[in-house]
Amino acid sequence: MRTLLALSLLFTLPAMAAEADVHLKEGSGKQLVEANCSMCHSLDYIQMNSPFLDRKGWEASVNKMIKVMGAPVAEGDVQNIVDYLAGQYGK
Ligand code: HEC
Repeated sequence: MRTLLALSLLFTLPAMAAEADVHLKEGSGKQLVEANCSMCHSLDYIQMNSPFLDRKGWEASVNKMIKVMGAPVAEGDVQNIVDYLAGQYGK
């Protein structure tokens, strides 16, 4: 059992390292998202949620990151970030 656990760890770690290297779609606002949304979790959270979130959903999600999680996003950047997410990753 122990060996199995160690083995599975061995295979998960490289996968996690690869996750850090997520490439978002080109578009205005991409740099803002990369700068503001990658400090606490991988940017693949954005890709994974793309099928579920429309503009309203992304707006709520970004606000949740700021108000609940404490993401330090400048007020003037919020709209650009939501525009990018809704445009490139909206459902
Ligand atoms: C201060 C830390 C922090 C920052 C900065 C941050 N997030 Fe998050 N985010 C979290 C935490 C904590 C979770 C919940 C993780 C979990 O449930 O595993 C989360 C979860 C998410 C999820 C999954 C759905 C959900 O609501 O739980 C999405 C999508 C997401 N973040 C998008 C973003 C976007 C877009 C940005 C940039 C505007 C951002 N995050 C910036 C902390 C942060």
